[in-house]
Amino acid sequence: MKKNSIENHKETFYQEKYEELFQELKANVRKSTYVPELHISPEAGLMNDPNGLAYFNGKYHVFFQWYPFGATHGLKHWGHTTSENLVQWSEQEFALIPDQEYEKNGCYSGNAFEYKGELYLFYTANYKTEHGKIPKQAIAVMNKAGEIKKFPEPIISEGIEGLSGELRDPFVFEREGTFYMLLGGGMFEGAARSGFGDKGVIVLYQSSDLFDWEYVGLLDLPIPTGYMLECPSVVQIDGKDVLFLSPMGYEAEEKRFHNRFATIYLVGHLDLEHLRFEVEHWDEMDAGFDFYAPQAFMGKNEPLLFGWFGCGEQEQPIQENWQHGLTFPQKMWLEDNRLKRYPVSEIIEQFTEKKEMNTQEVRIDQAVYRLQLTAQTSIKVGKPDDYWELLFRPQGEVTISREHLAKTIDESYGMTRSTTISTFDCVDIFVDHSFIEIYINNGERVFSFNVYQKKEATIWSNDGILEGTLYF
Ligand code: FRU
Repeated sequence: MKKNSIENHKETFYQEKYEELFQELKANVRKSTYVPELHISPEAGLMNDPNGLAYFNGKYHVFFQWYPFGATHGLKHWGHTTSENLVQWSEQEFALIPDQEYEKNGCYSGNAFEYKGELYLFYTANYKTEHGKIPKQAIAVMNKAGEIKKFPEPIISEGIEGLSGELRDPFVFEREGTFYMLLGGGMFEGAARSGFGDKGVIVLYQSSDLFDWEYVGLLDLPIPTGYMLECPSVVQIDGKDVLFLSPMGYEAEEKRFHNRFATIYLVGHLDLEHLRFEVEHWDEMDAGFDFYAPQAFMGKNEPLLFGWFGCGEQEQPIQENWQHGLTFPQKMWLEDNRLKRYPVSEIIEQFTEKKEMNTQEVRIDQAVYRLQLTAQTSIKVGKPDDYWELLFRPQGEVTISREHLAKTIDESYGMTRSTTISTFDCVDIFVDHSFIEIYINNGERVFSFNVYQKKEATIWSNDGILEGTLYF
C-alpha cells in the first residue's frame, strides 16, 4: 500500500498503518493560512459536532465528531482536546475509533457525564443494515489518567415502534437522583417507513445506574419540530431550563431558518413527570451561515456552550485537507427569557492591544482581531474586489453578505443572512483567520460564518465613520 493513500477513503477508521499518512496530512494543514488560532479546528480532516463537553479533573474536555483523513464526512471518530483555560488546547489521542462491529458506521454524537470520579461518554453507535438503521447507544468510560474504555456492548440496542432508525445523540443528565437520557429522532406519520421520519421527536429514557436504560416516552414539545431533531442538550440558566435542539426540515421564513438545517433554543421548564417542555420563549440561535449542533454543558462555574462552526454538507471554496471547527466557548444568560451569549472572558483577554478609531477606513494586517463599533455604521471588509459586508438597514434589519467575496461559499443556500434588532448599542466582530463571529448588542444576536480571504484587509464604511476600538 502506498504510504499516502488509504483503502476505502471515507469508510476507513484510524489504524497504526495510517500514522505516516496522518502525520503528512497534519503537516499540510499547518501550512494553511485559513486555520484559526483561537477556535478549535481539526489538525486534519473534517470536524463536526462538539461532543462530550465537560470540566473534569481540573481541565476542560472537548470531544468532537471527526473524520481524520480528509475534508469530507467520512466514518465518524471522536477526537479529543483539553485545556485549562479555554484558549490553549492540547490535542489528545483518538477518543473513540469505530472499530467494533456494533458501531461499524461510525461513533456518532453524544455527551459526557461525570460519575464516581470518572467521565462517562455516551454516544450513538451508528449501525446500518439493508433495511435501514438499527439505533444503538453506547458508552465508554474515561478515568482520571485519561484512559478510555468502551463498554463491550451497546447499552440500548433497539429502536422504538413508530420511530425511524435515526435515533441518536444521547444527552445524559441527572435530576433528583435519577439519570435521564434525551435522544433526537423522527416519527412516521405518513406512509414512508424508512429513512428519516416526518416529525421530529425527543425521546426520554431513564436509569438508576447509567447502564440499564428504560424507555419513558416522547417529550411533548409545543413547537414545530421539522422531520427530525438532532443533538438535544439541556442546562439550567438563571433558574430556567434551556433546551437546545437542531431540527432538520424547517421551512425558511423571511429572516430565519435559511441554512440547510436550523438550530433553536427553548426557554422554560422541563417537566419530566408529565413528559413535556413548557415553553416560555423559543427562537433561532444564530443568524449566520455556519452554525449547527451546539452542545451546552456545565463549565467550571457556569453553563457554557460550543457550537459546530459548520452546517450540513457544505461546499468549501478551498481545496485543503481540513474543514470546519467549533465556535468560541460562550457564556450564556437570559434577559426577558431571551438567550444571550458571548465569548468567555478568557477569549476576550487574548486581545491585549487596543487602538481607538474615528476614521472612514482602517487597514488591518493581522489575521486575528476584534473590532468593536460603538456607532451604527455599515462596513465592508477586505478589498474592493473581495469583501464581505455587515449592513445596518431601516427598521432594525442587520444583514451579513458574502456576495462580493472572490471565493464564494455554498451559494445554493444564499449569500446573505438577516436578523432584526430593536435598538443599536454596539457590535463586536471577532475575526480569527477564516472564522468570524459577530455579536450585536453584547450577544443579543450572533452571526457565525466563514470567509476565505487574504490576511491584509481594509475595513471601510460607505455611509459614515468607523467609531470604536480595534483590538489585537
Ligand atoms: C449533527 C449530526 C448528528 C450525528 C452526527 C454525525 O450534525 O448529524 O445528529 O450524531 O452529526 O456526525
